[in-house]
Amino acid sequence: MQKFFKLNQAATELLAEKYGTPLLVLSLAEVKKNYQFLAKALPGVKLHYAVKANPERRLVQALAECGSCFDVASDGEMLELTAMGIESNRMVYANPVKTASGLSTALKTGVKKFTFDSEAEIGRISDVIPGGTVLLRIRVDNPLALVDLNTKFGARPDDAIKMLKMARDHGLDVAGLCFHVGSQSTSAKPYVEAIKMCARLFDQARDEGMELRTLDIGGGFPIPTIQESFDVAAMAGEIHSALVEYFPNTEIWAEPGRFICGTAVNLLTRVIGAQIRNHQQWYFLDEGLYGTFSGVIFDHWDFELETFKQGEPITATFAGPSCDSLDVMFREKTTRLLQVGDLILVPACGAYTSASATVFNGFAKAPIIVWEEVAGAFAE
Ligand SMILES: Cc1ncc(COP(=O)(O)O)c(C=O)c1O
Repeated sequence: MQKFFKLNQAATELLAEKYGTPLLVLSLAEVKKNYQFLAKALPGVKLHYAVKANPERRLVQALAECGSCFDVASDGEMLELTAMGIESNRMVYANPVKTASGLSTALKTGVKKFTFDSEAEIGRISDVIPGGTVLLRIRVDNPLALVDLNTKFGARPDDAIKMLKMARDHGLDVAGLCFHVGSQSTSAKPYVEAIKMCARLFDQARDEGMELRTLDIGGGFPIPTIQESFDVAAMAGEIHSALVEYFPNTEIWAEPGRFICGTAVNLLTRVIGAQIRNHQQWYFLDEGLYGTFSGVIFDHWDFELETFKQGEPITATFAGPSCDSLDVMFREKTTRLLQVGDLILVPACGAYTSASATVFNGFAKAPIIVWEEVAGAFAE
């Protein structure tokens, strides 16, 4: 299994003692490592970090310092990045269906690059940002992805030329195409298929007098799960070869989210209740489905629970602290016998976790500390 940021027992205990739980520990070194890994594996590709995966300011700042561009999806994300001093030409507003306030914020902040996947969106963009640069999002079917975004987004390839022409006729700067193969995609195949399809559409567009110049291959790059890790370097190698073959002279963008931030955060949570219910062992934690574990619902993610315990494996149900009976994260989860007060470390907890956490029932979001700012205390 590929090595990634995971605190050891001593650090987990000391941090929990000092800062309390629940606590999120973010490694900016891991964020930068992941960015640089992908930049190297996909040479020449302009990486646009998908802010939605984890919008934490210090994480975004670290990426900005690495030279990253950004995929933003809302007025809030554009305003936040602008307030951080990130230039608007480093942002693509990659939400195919934008809100009115999103469009007016794009105008205000100077964001001029957009994606779209419907005729209706063309007029909406050109009315607010005349001459704006657009990429048409193409639907690519990949039912194997953990989160298949193509049931909701993407124009049919057969409609692409008609829509590109319509965008041009509305005075928009038609730059190219984009796609997203779905999140946590574990194979290069859907990327390569989509790249080939886009190459055909680029040819058809040329026949219609439209010289496209940009292809955005989206996000979807996987992180290790409890069960397996993936050879992302090999995957990216196959994607790179296809890009060299089919798009030697085209500007290529990608929008990785999960791959950049997923392994960069550890959650520290404590057992606050233990009981037998219906002959099953239940543990209640101080973090739940309405908090960092929101990824269980929104991201279909199964999290590793590191208990630092030895002994016979048991199965148990893990519930969160709120008064809602929905607030159960795991059932029949293999673990070890635990007691109230025990600490649990949840590694690879950085993507689609705190980003979708709520403050339901008055439970505050878990605070985030930066590992490199506190790590000195653990030096020998
Ligand atoms: C348009 C777009 N780009 C990029 C991403 C990031 O995808 P991932 O986190 O799988 O890399 C998403 C995720 O939903 C998305 O909707």
